[in-house]
Amino acid sequence: MKKLVIGAVAAAVLATSGVAAEYTLKFSHVVSDNTPKGKAARFFEQRLEELSKGRIDVQVYPSSQLYKDNAVLKALRLNSVQMAAPSFSKFGKIVPQLALFDLPFLFKDIDHLHRVQDGPVGEKLKEMVTKKGIVALSFWDNHFKQLSSSKKALIKPEDAKGQKFRIMSSKVLEAQFHAVGANPQMMPFSEVYSGLQQGVIDGQENTNSNIFTKKFHEVQKYLTVTNHGYLGYLVVMSKKFWKSLPADLQANVTQAMKEATEKEREYADDLNTKQFNLIKEYAEKTGKLEIINLTPEQRQAWADKVSKIYPEFYGERQIGKDLIEGALNTK
Ligand code: LMR
Repeated sequence: MKKLVIGAVAAAVLATSGVAAEYTLKFSHVVSDNTPKGKAARFFEQRLEELSKGRIDVQVYPSSQLYKDNAVLKALRLNSVQMAAPSFSKFGKIVPQLALFDLPFLFKDIDHLHRVQDGPVGEKLKEMVTKKGIVALSFWDNHFKQLSSSKKALIKPEDAKGQKFRIMSSKVLEAQFHAVGANPQMMPFSEVYSGLQQGVIDGQENTNSNIFTKKFHEVQKYLTVTNHGYLGYLVVMSKKFWKSLPADLQANVTQAMKEATEKEREYADDLNTKQFNLIKEYAEKTGKLEIINLTPEQRQAWADKVSKIYPEFYGERQIGKDLIEGALNTK
């Protein structure tokens, strides 16, 4: 009798979902759903479930619900989670060379950045990750970062002196803030809002999308539009999980990822503008936030100061001169 009841429940589940999933793929990330990464992860979920005809059940966990920052890569290697898209800084212990993308003022614009990711430099970096036993799927964008503070408006590099800025775990970002005499403080993304609110840190750097969706602008007084550095991700998969998939499902993953990556670039472009406008609206309505636009000369002064850090990362174990010059020379 008991068996019969269970059988009936299983039949009902099967009837609603089509087929029972053979594989569960958990995708963990730290940002909100309404960000480029969050939206693309949802797109990927839907598309892979469609393509695999329900044989893969994709479960997306946003906002550090499952794993915080760096912890996710350890979990991925154990196959406790099957997918993640950490920002490049968070690969520091595994492939520090990915910090190439953290170097401030290295990329002329987002198109230049894409040419680097889609060309030999991007391929080389992906290979380095693959060699570490992690499947490197795709590069995803957030966008360029802005600087904010509650202590002092950031107009000249000297204004940053002595201020405490939250950074991701990154040697490059540490050097960047040291170059302007500031104090960088490493902190997981999930703790930035309370850190700013409680004054543990004075300021932070992040993209319009991350600032807006996590409300950092509501606990800051000044926001400077610097676009000084880029924030992006490498989408990765557990090797164990990948190998467990038959060839047809691997092909579905590849296809869903290709489509999600195209969408992701559109989401990133769109949200960067839209969410900046929402921050601007907040500033105008409340009068609690001052938005500072730099003149080209003022922006150049920041670039001159912080670009001096590049040679610190010429060593092969840091980033490597070849990769840095390869990126700078990508036409
Ligand atoms: C951060 O820690 O600021 C970012 O890496 C968060 C993210 O994933 O965009």
